[in-house]
Amino acid sequence: MNDPKGEIRRISVSDIQARKGGVPLACLTAYSKPMAQWLDPHMDLLLVGDSLAMVIYGMETTRGVTLDAMINHGAAVMRGSERACVVVDLPHGTYEDSPQQAYASARRVLDETGVQAVKLEGGVEMAETIRHLTDQGIAVLGHIGLLPQKAENRGGFKIQGRDDEGWKRVMADGQAVTEAGAFAIVIEGTVEALAREITETVAVPTIGIGASPGCDGQILVTDDALGLFSDFTPTFVKRYAELGEDINRAAEAYAADVRARSFPGLEHCFGVPKDKK
Ligand code: KIV
Repeated sequence: MNDPKGEIRRISVSDIQARKGGVPLACLTAYSKPMAQWLDPHMDLLLVGDSLAMVIYGMETTRGVTLDAMINHGAAVMRGSERACVVVDLPHGTYEDSPQQAYASARRVLDETGVQAVKLEGGVEMAETIRHLTDQGIAVLGHIGLLPQKAENRGGFKIQGRDDEGWKRVMADGQAVTEAGAFAIVIEGTVEALAREITETVAVPTIGIGASPGCDGQILVTDDALGLFSDFTPTFVKRYAELGEDINRAAEAYAADVRARSFPGLEHCFGVPKDKK
């Protein structure tokens, strides 16, 4: 976003909130400085998601990542971006015990990275915590529907809202998170009509992943969208590139060059007379 002098200005949480019902928000995850640099010119919001536990560190769930790790990745993404709104996930075990615990964790994330907001998973049961954070001036991105941090306790990675009870629960979650002051809400893994109804009901933007084209924005895990993470590809992912295959080809070509002594060439070496290069 440009300010009146034409200088680049970072998109704020208020800018995101003001996009309710407008041009859809384009959001992706980012975990590193170089990836943030590539994505920043195009994205409204970059999420330093705890999905990095699985995508970067090869853990089986998102629950193993620490607050320190999230802070390191958040700081890296801030170094690589100047335009997008950046949000860091509060990882499992750092916010659920009490609003005070959540405040201490969120405070560290904001102070040590400079990002604009934190995201935390949960609806009605986290409303008091979200209210506590927002009352203290900490911007919160809500996350309802399928909750990866809690999936183990809820019978796995299941699409939410297939039955009446589940539908009502996620609707109530959307309302509670909005009333508690979240500036926007990620809706993950719900039946399409439920995400659409929540979007029509709540006053803040909804950002869908495996949700609905009717949401106010969309988010994907970048490594899924770019073909870098190939352990599995969920149905809701569209692959925009096959970078994993490019890496494979590049590594094969490099190994062949090294083994054939065709890399390095003299042009890659120091102190070689110009006529030999
Ligand atoms: O951790 C993450 O990447 C997320 C997105 C899937 C929304 O929470």
